[in-house]
Amino acid sequence: MESIIVAGSANPSLAEGVAERLATRVSRVILDRFPDSELHAELGESVRGCDVYLIQPTGPPVDNHLMELIFLADACRRAGAARLTGIVPYYGYARQDRRAKGREAVGARLIADMLSLAGLERIVAIDLHTVSLEGFFSVPLEHLSAISLLANTIEELVTARTVVVAPDLGAVKLAERYAELLHRPISIVHKIRLSGAKVEVRGVVGEVAGCAPIIVDDMISTGGTIKAAAEALISAGCLPEIMVVASHALLTGPAISLFSA
Ligand code: R5P
Repeated sequence: MESIIVAGSANPSLAEGVAERLATRVSRVILDRFPDSELHAELGESVRGCDVYLIQPTGPPVDNHLMELIFLADACRRAGAARLTGIVPYYGYARQDRRAKGREAVGARLIADMLSLAGLERIVAIDLHTVSLEGFFSVPLEHLSAISLLANTIEELVTARTVVVAPDLGAVKLAERYAELLHRPISIVHKIRLSGAKVEVRGVVGEVAGCAPIIVDDMISTGGTIKAAAEALISAGCLPEIMVVASHALLTGPAISLFSA
């Protein structure tokens, strides 16, 4: 069966890179908008009887990329693709995996349903916000991780003073995995989220004075979590040599200026 790569507009260089590694090319698609802003998605080439890999992470602007993903999936299904796999390295809405307060939507579950409804028969994702999201998908999910790759990359920068830091309680399991790979102890920042863009640190758990922290997270959006953790670590006596490692660098809003400040 012929394999075909189709991609939306979210990360064309990723799709090109994958195609190049596989000695193939990205199939042509037409994505445009009607005057009322509705999306129009069309395949530029036949996919009939093919094994189609649809590459489209759903980073910002999340809704646009998500619509492209489901429209292209639907187009592939209707055009007779024999098998359709969605490659969604970053899965937007992942943080809305529960009702933190009453009367909220559980976005992560809804999107998982939308992807299978659109015709994706298998989904590949990388470092989902929590592993419990795996249970949200009714189609097979290949949950890959970049952690060992990232740990290998920073290994040579690790010293006897390095401590791996979880910037919030949700990142503890992740920090444990890095700590195990890097053979270093962990520390945990107790963070409270006040709003989408505001966080507050209540304390640091673990001995960090005189240490060089590596803060690890699944994703960086506004950078507020990392910035708050870094400030708390410095106040707790850490060396001002802070390294940050994350699988998904969304870097929205003030993130870049926060880190360069
Ligand atoms: C939170 O649970 C996530 O793991 C990240 O720490 C958080 O979503 C990052 O967002 P921001 O960069 O806006 O603080």
